[in-house]
Amino acid sequence: MQDNEYLIPWDKNNINVKYTEILILGSGIAGLFTAINLSKKYEITILTKKNIMESNTEHAQGGIAVALDLEDSPEFHYGDTIKAGAGLCNLSAVKILAEKGPDSVRKLIELGTQFDKSENKLNFTTEGAHSKKRVLHAKGDATGGEIERALVEKVRNSSIQVKENYFVIDLLKNDDNEVIGVLVLDNKYKLEAWLSKAVIIATGGLGQLYKHTTNPAVTTGDGIAAAYRAGAELMDMEFIQFHPTALLIPGVPSFLISEAARGEGALLLNAQGKRFMADIPGQELAPRDVVARAIWEQMKTGTVYLDFSYIHSQKVQERFPKIYKTCLQYGIDISATPVPVGPAAHYIMGGIRVDNSGQTSLPNLYACGECACNGVHGANRLASNSLLDGLVFAETITQKLEKEAGKLSKWEKAKPFTEHLTSGRRYKTDIERIRAELREIMWDRVGIIRNTEGLSDAYARIERLKEVFVPRIKIPELELGNMLTLGSIIVKSAFKRQESRGGHYRSDYPVPDEEWRKHSAFKRGDKHVSYVSV
Ligand code: SIN
Repeated sequence: MQDNEYLIPWDKNNINVKYTEILILGSGIAGLFTAINLSKKYEITILTKKNIMESNTEHAQGGIAVALDLEDSPEFHYGDTIKAGAGLCNLSAVKILAEKGPDSVRKLIELGTQFDKSENKLNFTTEGAHSKKRVLHAKGDATGGEIERALVEKVRNSSIQVKENYFVIDLLKNDDNEVIGVLVLDNKYKLEAWLSKAVIIATGGLGQLYKHTTNPAVTTGDGIAAAYRAGAELMDMEFIQFHPTALLIPGVPSFLISEAARGEGALLLNAQGKRFMADIPGQELAPRDVVARAIWEQMKTGTVYLDFSYIHSQKVQERFPKIYKTCLQYGIDISATPVPVGPAAHYIMGGIRVDNSGQTSLPNLYACGECACNGVHGANRLASNSLLDGLVFAETITQKLEKEAGKLSKWEKAKPFTEHLTSGRRYKTDIERIRAELREIMWDRVGIIRNTEGLSDAYARIERLKEVFVPRIKIPELELGNMLTLGSIIVKSAFKRQESRGGHYRSDYPVPDEEWRKHSAFKRGDKHVSYVSV
C-alpha cells in the first residue's frame, strides 16, 4: 500500500455525481449538531458509514462536563481542563469550550435531551481531575445514547438528508487544492461522487487500531486518514488516551466501566484485595494516564478489580444500569462482586489540525469532534469534555459557515486518480491476519508505555504490513488501509517525542521536558514530523 492521494484507483468517467450544499461526514454529536445548526441556512447531507445511531457518542457513558452548577464557573472548568492537558492546551480553545459550554448544553436540552434530575434540579457528578461536580448524565450511565436519541429525532424531523451505510473513501479536490466533495461507496456498493460547497469531517476516533478499546467497531479513523491523503495537516497524533477501566474478561469484548463509577465511590483493588491508589495524589480520581499506568503496573502481578461495594447496592443499579446489565450477562453482579478491569484505548487527543472555527489546512474542509485537533485537550483530555467539545466546536463551524461557504464546483474540476499503483502480494487470510497483527503491535508497542526499541520495531512491522497489503473496494479492506496509514503516523509521532506528557508515556524519557512543550504536525509528503509552538 502506497502513500497515495487516493486509497483506491477510480475512473472519473464511470461515476455517478450528486450535489448538495454542505456535506457532513459522520453522525455522532459533532456531526448531528453541526447539521441541525447549519440546516437553517443550507441544504445538508449527512453521510454515515453504518446506521445513524452507530457512533462513539452512542456508547458514551459518564456524561458531559459543563459549568452550569451554581457552585461552579467556566473559570474553574477552564483551569481543570488546562491542568489535565499537561501544558499543551490551546488556551483560546479551552476558553471557548468552558465559556460557550453552558449555552451549547442549554441548546441540547432545548432539543429534547433529558439529563438526570432530582427534585427538578440537574444532577452533577464528578470524574477524574475535576475540582467541582460538573458532569451531567442521562439514564444513569447511558448519557451518549440519550443525546444521540434527541439529536437523531430532530434530524429525522428536518430537511436534512441522511445517507446511511455510505462509506466515504476519499476527499475530492480541484487543481487549486480546494476540497470540492467526496468519493463514496454507497449503500449498494457503487462508487459515487458527492460535490458540495464545504465538507465537514465529524467521523470520530480510531480506537479500533488497538487490540483493547472501549470504542465501537466503526472507529477506524476513516475521516482522519482521508484528510491526510488529501494533504490536510494532522496534529498531536501521538497523544492517545487509555481509559483506566474497561471490563477485562478473557474472550469477552472490552466494555467501558465509566469513570463516573469511581466518581460515585467505587475503589480499585489489586489481586491481593489491597487498594493501591490510596497514596497517589487524586487517588482513584487522579488523571486518566496516572490511573491507567498504576493499573498496568498492578496487572503485572494479577487481576485488578473495581469494587462497587462502597456505593449503596440500590444506587449501583439505578446509577449504572447499563454497566450492571452488561456485567450480569457475564455472571458478575457488580453490586456484590468486584469487576475485573484493565485499561483500553479510548480517545485520540490529536487529529486533523483545525483552528478554533474548525477550518483545516485545506480550503472548504472543516472538522469537529474527536477526529479534529485544535489543541483544546492538550496532551490529555479531561473526563467528559469530549461530548462538550463536539457541541461547542460544531457551533464555531456554524458561525463561520453562516458567514461564508465555498462555491459548488463542477465535476470536470475534480482531480482524477493519476498515481501509479504497485500491487502487493495477497494471501487469502491477509485481512484478518494483518488487522489482528496491527492491533497487537499498537497495543504492545505503541500503548500505555512506549520506548525507542518498541517504537522502532512497531514502525518496521507496520511498514512490512503496508508492503504486502493493497486494499480492494471492500469496506474491511478500506478500513484496514486507513488503520495502517494512521498506525504508522502515530508511531512516527510517538518516536520523535522524547519526553512523557499526558497520554504519551516513554519509559526511556519518563518526565515532561519544557523543550518538547509544542505540538507535533505531519502531512502527506513530509519526510519528518515537525513541531509548532503552543
Ligand atoms: C467515562 O464514562 O468514563 C468516559 C467519559 C469520557 O471519556 O469522557
